[in-house]
Amino acid sequence: MAADSGRTDSAGADSGGAGVVRTHVVTHLPGDGVGPEVTEVARACVDAVAEQHGFAVEWRPCELGGQHYLKTGEVLPDPVLAQLRESDAVLLGAVGTPEVPPGVLERGLLLRLRFELDLYVNLRPSKLRPGVGGAVGRHGLSDLDFVIVRENTEGLYAGAGGTVHRGTQFETATEESLNTWAGVRRCVQYAASLAAQRSGRLTLVHKTNVLTHAGDLWNRIAREVAAEAGLELSYAHVDAACLWLVDDPKRFDVIVTDNLFGDIISDLGAALTGGLGYAASGNLNPDKTGPSIFEPVHGSAPDIAGKGLANPVGAVLSASLMLSHLGEAKAAADLDAAVDAVLAAGAPGTTGDWEKALLVQLGGSR
Ligand code: IPM
Ligand code: MN
Repeated sequence: MAADSGRTDSAGADSGGAGVVRTHVVTHLPGDGVGPEVTEVARACVDAVAEQHGFAVEWRPCELGGQHYLKTGEVLPDPVLAQLRESDAVLLGAVGTPEVPPGVLERGLLLRLRFELDLYVNLRPSKLRPGVGGAVGRHGLSDLDFVIVRENTEGLYAGAGGTVHRGTQFETATEESLNTWAGVRRCVQYAASLAAQRSGRLTLVHKTNVLTHAGDLWNRIAREVAAEAGLELSYAHVDAACLWLVDDPKRFDVIVTDNLFGDIISDLGAALTGGLGYAASGNLNPDKTGPSIFEPVHGSAPDIAGKGLANPVGAVLSASLMLSHLGEAKAAADLDAAVDAVLAAGAPGTTGDWEKALLVQLGGSR
């Protein structure tokens, strides 16, 4: 992290103008496909709210991703990782391009960043916004507003497992789910503190009836942490949670769950609230021992890349999560509200129209 994060200084040459009292260093990692288009909009919005709230963002460019890999063979060189560690946050667009084989960037870049920077929470809010048709039309706005706290460094993603007897009929492939007491506990603790700030309701989603070892650990920890925090804890098996998320989503406020379950149910959450274009995420290091990474969930969408058609809302809302994490709660709320205001007036059809409409909203609140 930048040692001078959130520092107070006089309006220096690089600090964005008079009245600036804090500067946050943010690495901009646009990546591939629609990543550059959507993060440009998010950047412009962040700069607009920063100016109004008396802080500045020093953007540092970082070229990583599929195109960069094809050009250079580099996935995540150590010096680049060291540079990333120096920033207060990372705004990531998307990585991935059809020419790069599966796993190279997912494991070598995204997951490595999550592990190296100890981003142990993946925060995935799902909120139905005005004017957005969710996949299930019968729910009202207030019914669909929940947050998934996905454990982000363990479980089936940890990388334990392997292949033996490859290429024979006895080829055996294993993927092991790793669940540590400390890893589960810190994730549940984060979820509990979030639930305490919201409705006080926390739900553990797992599959304790089948995954009895990991399930028992998660269940005991969730009970302990909820009791310590004075929270109401409920439990849903992951299959039932899918059904209830569609049928009766107001059961849920803060969901805490394991890495793969969280990956899957957060896409369901996105589908229920307008689709992946609207879904934001924060890969958080809640202890702030390093930068957190904020990214829209939609991926690089090569089919529409470069056409100006990408919906930038996922990136803008991810930037809002970023500002909140950086301690700029009011600016974060302004970004969020600007998205709602633009949506209420009818969603723009192009990335450029989105940018204009958002900047008008943000300027209007000056
Ligand atoms: C996500 C993505 C990633 C994940 C992939 C690309 C590694 O699906 O952020 O949800 O599985 O976590
Ligand atoms: Mn996913």
